Formats: sequence, C-alpha cells, structure tokens
Amino acid sequence: MRLLEPYQLGDLTLENRLVMAPMTRNRAPGCLPNERMARYYVQRATAGLIVSEGTQIATVAQGYQDTPGIHTEEQRDGWRRVTDAVHRAGGHIFAQLWHVGRVSHSYYHGLRPVAPSAVPPPGKAYIPENPLPYETPHALTVAEIGEVIEQFRHAARVARDAGFDGVEIHGANGYLIDQFLRSGTNQRQDEYGGSVENRCRFLLEVTRAVVEIWSDRRVGVRLSPGGTTNGAVDENPVATFSTAISGLDAIAGLGYLHIVEAPVGTSGPDERAVCATELARSLYRGTLITTGGYTPEAAEHLLEKECADLVGFGRLFIANPDLVERVRRHAPLNEADRSTFYSRGDHGYLDYPALVARVENL
Ligand SMILES: Cc1cc2nc3c(=O)[nH]c(=O)nc-3n(C[C@H](O)[C@H](O)[C@H](O)COP(=O)(O)O)c2cc1C
Repeated sequence: MRLLEPYQLGDLTLENRLVMAPMTRNRAPGCLPNERMARYYVQRATAGLIVSEGTQIATVAQGYQDTPGIHTEEQRDGWRRVTDAVHRAGGHIFAQLWHVGRVSHSYYHGLRPVAPSAVPPPGKAYIPENPLPYETPHALTVAEIGEVIEQFRHAARVARDAGFDGVEIHGANGYLIDQFLRSGTNQRQDEYGGSVENRCRFLLEVTRAVVEIWSDRRVGVRLSPGGTTNGAVDENPVATFSTAISGLDAIAGLGYLHIVEAPVGTSGPDERAVCATELARSLYRGTLITTGGYTPEAAEHLLEKECADLVGFGRLFIANPDLVERVRRHAPLNEADRSTFYSRGDHGYLDYPALVARVENL
C-alpha cells in the first residue's frame, strides 16, 4: 500500500504516509504540557508524522481552555518530556504554532484579543459552562504586526529547543493568519489589507520568519481554502488562496503545505466549487498533505492518483492509537466519541483500545 510506504521529508524519513492531524484536546491545565499528553502522543507514535495540537505562541494567542503554550521556559520543558517520549517510541512530531487572533477572550488572559481589523467573530467564545459573547478585537498596528511575527519566531525557537522535529504554522480555520487572508475579516487599508497580495503579506512574512529559525524542510503551513469556521469568509477564496499558495511555493526551504479539505466556493454563481487539494497541487510544487474526512481507502486512492504526498487523519487517530497497524492488517476501526474530544479526563483520551492490547487481553 502506498500509505504504508516511507516518505522522505527533507532529511527526515517518515515511516509511512499517515499524518496525525493537529487536534486540540484541552488537557493542559495551566497551559503546560504534561505526562498525560506524553502518553497520548506515544500511543500514536507509529504515525509517519504527528502534528501536535494547536499551541499558542503568546498569552493573548490562546482561545480555549487548557490549551498548551509554546512561549515560556516551563512550557518548553513540558514539551521536552513529550518530544523525548515520542522519539523513544520511534516517532516524529511537529508543533503546531497557533495564534487565534479574534477567536480569543479576555476571560483567558485578561487581555484584549487582537485581529487585523476591529470585527468580532460571530457567536460566543467557547468557555466551559459560561459561553460569553466575543469581544471586539483590537486592530493591530503595523508595528504590532511586527511584534506578532517576532512572537512566531520566538515560539519557533522554543519548539526547536523543546526537541520538536519541526513546526507547522496554523494558517487555517479562521484564526489570526486566516483572518488576515480573508476579505471578510481583513478590512485594512494599509500594506496588510485591501488587495489579495496585501492580505497574503502577513502569512508570507510569518512563514519566512519561521523558516529562518529551522533547518531545511522542517516548517509546514496549514491552510483551509474551503473553510468558513469562525466566520472566515472571503469574497473570492479561489483568488485569495491561489495567491497565498503561489507565495508559499516561492519560499525556498518550506517543508510542506497542509490543506484542510473542503470544496472552495467561488465568487460567480455559474462557477463550480474547486477541490482545495487539487487547487493546492496545481500551484504548490513541494510536499502536500491533505486532511479532512478521509478513510484509509480514500487516502490510498488519493496517493495512487498522486493528488497528495501524505494524508492526515484526525478523528481516526483519536479513536485508533494504532491506526497504522490497523491499516496494515485491514482491521476494523474504533469510532471516535465526540463527547470526550474536549473533556478533561483520561476517558476518550488515553483509553481507546489498541489491537495488541486487545489480543493480550484475550
Ligand atoms: C477534537 C478536534 C480538535 C481539533 N483541533 C485542531 C487544531 O488544534 N488545529 C487544527 O489545525 N485543526 C484542528 N482540528 C481539525 C483536524 O486537524 C482535522 O482537519 C479535522 O478533524 C478533519 O479531519 P478528520 O476528518 O480526519 O477528522 C481538530 C479536529 C478535532 C476533531
């Protein structure tokens, strides 16, 4: 099977082509990575590559309860225990660098959320037991944008010092970078807004800054051209993402582009929606990962057609810590329990059964 063949990502040899997609699990009290998280990732270390849950690059970049950070020494030391454990288990792990922008709330940190423009997201902030309306964010000045880029650079260094194999820049799902990309959330008149090129500037500056910190091919970027999560709307997403992806293609040393698959809407009523992965494949010449609703069979088909190089699995990796072995054996898959995705305990986190444990239990 193509899925089970090794893949060369720069100087990193991935054992197979299954990527564990980044998934927030809210199990980091105090925003500190811990032993339970190490166990969770070790259980899944046979993935060709693990992309960690979103990790905030600064205090104000946090948007949800108990998500881990990647900007303090204590967080670095916590992550070091996770990365050491994953490496001892033979795995590879990248940190997902995350700034939620306006999808934050002062409830978490006492600070005013920031965004390209002073436009609040729709709905309420995801605060357990007490959802609060989102606040109107502070529109970053050009000088402050420079500071956020420095925060990305700093977090990239912390990730390197914490023993990660690389980093993925979270440019998807309506968070800060996506807020800059989209015409609906970016209403700036300066060099970071207006034209498509200007809206792409922040993404490309962040990416270049992070690539400078890491060695060759150890930085990926995640985009969701077809997504509308968190009020991510754009008047012409095909044009916006074509420019963004071409811009990334021109950055030497970038390791991969990671697409969250969903059909990309178009501006005209007569035009057909575009497949996000196909759009990326046509414009990006490097390693392409695609994630979003794939079964192992669908993923295999995609790889055979060379539509992507690696395939990400989210919920299947939550429910099947030994997903790779199950694919190898064509074994049945466990189903993920949504009610424990963001809950606190070990249940639904550390207790999904693996085939070997099942055999041992017989
Ligand atoms: C519980 C959960 C948490 C997620 N957290 C993140 C995240 O932190 N960063 C991110 O880029 N995507 C996140 N996602 C999206 C997944 O990476 C993935 O794109 C999505 O689940 C679709 O893939 P799947 O159909 O294989 O599950 C999350 C998804 C789930 C189910």
